[in-house]
Amino acid sequence: MKNNKLAIIGVGHVGSYVLADAMKTELFSEIVVIDKDKDVAFGEALDQAHATALTYMSNTNVYAGDYQDVKDADIIIIAAGPSVIITDKNAKPDRALLAEVNAEVIREVMEGITTYTKDAIIILITNPLDTIVYIAENEFGYPKGRLFGTGTMLDSARLRHAVASNYNIDPKSVTGYMMGEHGMTAFPVFSRLNVQGFGEKELDIHFQGKEALNREVFGQKVVDTAYDVITSKGWTNAAIAQAAITLAKAVLLDERSVYPVCTTLNGQYGYEGDVALSMPCIIGKNGVEQQLEIELDEEEIELLHKSAQYIQETMRIAGT
Ligand code: LAC
Repeated sequence: MKNNKLAIIGVGHVGSYVLADAMKTELFSEIVVIDKDKDVAFGEALDQAHATALTYMSNTNVYAGDYQDVKDADIIIIAAGPSVIITDKNAKPDRALLAEVNAEVIREVMEGITTYTKDAIIILITNPLDTIVYIAENEFGYPKGRLFGTGTMLDSARLRHAVASNYNIDPKSVTGYMMGEHGMTAFPVFSRLNVQGFGEKELDIHFQGKEALNREVFGQKVVDTAYDVITSKGWTNAAIAQAAITLAKAVLLDERSVYPVCTTLNGQYGYEGDVALSMPCIIGKNGVEQQLEIELDEEEIELLHKSAQYIQETMRIAGT
């Protein structure tokens, strides 16, 4: 294991799961845990340190620290701030409700980080994710590409899970992703969805589906299933933590994998630095190595603009 150092900022339900997943990858020789609640940071780090005595994994040096400990971090994962606000048990907890609160959280966190480094690759999870990425990427002079958000990585996994469940096949055999906002206005790029080459129009011919493949229905399934988890257990953490660790591994191993992650658009789809959202990107040692402006069909372009508009409304609430 190389001397890779990870810093995790915010160890609530999500950050503590990121920590557990990161420990098990054995990719990091050192992990520093930072939280405004220093007792929680200390406890989470000590708990994981105890775990290293029970396994035969490499002995990761895990400890609680503060912002000065990020100066030599290779990767920083930010999961700080509340992850969901449920105003009404029956209403869907819209991530945009977190805009005002977490805009201040991310500004404080980025102030702390950039006091010591502008070199680490930063992976953002905090919601409302696209607005948070826009603030972090554009207000602190962080080098282009070295900061991005988990974006629709998780929404895309949920889409592949929904399509795979419909046809009773392995989700890993489904190639497909969501673009736009991480949230209510994310949309499936059905024109590119396929199962080993069988495209959108062929699936119902070659596979036995529980229901016919429908863009709107499956797009809504993805949005709704997030709330199924939140309204049943109160938050989500397992899948989003895995998404962040998958991205961290792609950076550390310079995989040059293509994932739908959130970055500020610079000309793509007509947006000149005025919105951050998810599109396919190449992820490698420099973070976002390249944004891939995939051609969308008319319906998808319309959904992209709707999503961008919703994000920009949230950005205004956050004072960008
Ligand atoms: C979710 C949170 C991470 O979609 O926004 O699970």
